[in-house]
Amino acid sequence: MQARSDLIRHYGKRIAFVPTMGFLHEGHLSLMEEGRKLGDELVVSIFVNPAQFGPGEDLEAYPRAFERDCELSKKKGANIIFAPDTTELYGREFQTYITLEKLPNHLCGISRPVHFRGVATVVTKLFNIVRPHVAIFGKKDYQQVLVIRQMVNDLNFDIEIVGAPIIREADGLAMSSRNSYLTPEQRTSALSLYQSLEKAQTLVESGITDAAKIAGAVSEFVTSHPETVIDYIAICDSETLADMQTIDRPALMALAVKIGKTRLIDNKILSPPH
Ligand code: PAF
Repeated sequence: MQARSDLIRHYGKRIAFVPTMGFLHEGHLSLMEEGRKLGDELVVSIFVNPAQFGPGEDLEAYPRAFERDCELSKKKGANIIFAPDTTELYGREFQTYITLEKLPNHLCGISRPVHFRGVATVVTKLFNIVRPHVAIFGKKDYQQVLVIRQMVNDLNFDIEIVGAPIIREADGLAMSSRNSYLTPEQRTSALSLYQSLEKAQTLVESGITDAAKIAGAVSEFVTSHPETVIDYIAICDSETLADMQTIDRPALMALAVKIGKTRLIDNKILSPPH
């Protein structure tokens, strides 16, 4: 992969990169479309990264569909699909990890303590192997985009990071590979994440700017649906992820909810009332 990238760079071409864990959906495909616009060659990686799963999480169960993923990526214009296996990527005695000091102390980082260390480490490795000019990440994983931007800045990677919009099903459910775990009843409950974000915006527009009140209303709404357990509901600064008390400027509202055994996330930037 490094040799291929060197050759592409030698010819003065721009490499766009979309890292994925496979089981591709429209969200991933939209990142590839963006990648095609931003680079001459599009590299897509498919790698279910063990380092970003904690004990008891769904590493083994994580859905996989390699052949289908390759077909879809090629159709979307991927020139190279990079799909290493775990030993190839991590070797036998891997011991160097990338950790961030602040951003992982919020939102998903609290209930998934090793997650962002795993993400930052694998993305660093993939960047060093793929050597892209630009990499595209979906904003459904909003905190992940911030973590990667911060890391790229801190460690002087010469790579542009692009955050692409969340892609939703027709009824609003954010696309996720993990949606495939849901039963039809659970899928109805899962829709409460998106609906609650929309409700939050309506409340803000009606003049309620107290973050605790809004979070309370959202919590009540989500838990009125079967099989829902809230991991977190946060209203916070969209750059630092520090909690906000009043929505007097655009704020990130992010939530993680377990529907049965499936943990889903979603987010929205809430605009203050005019
Ligand atoms: O967003 C994902 O699918 C993963 O976290 C990533 C960026 C491919 C790293 O494994």
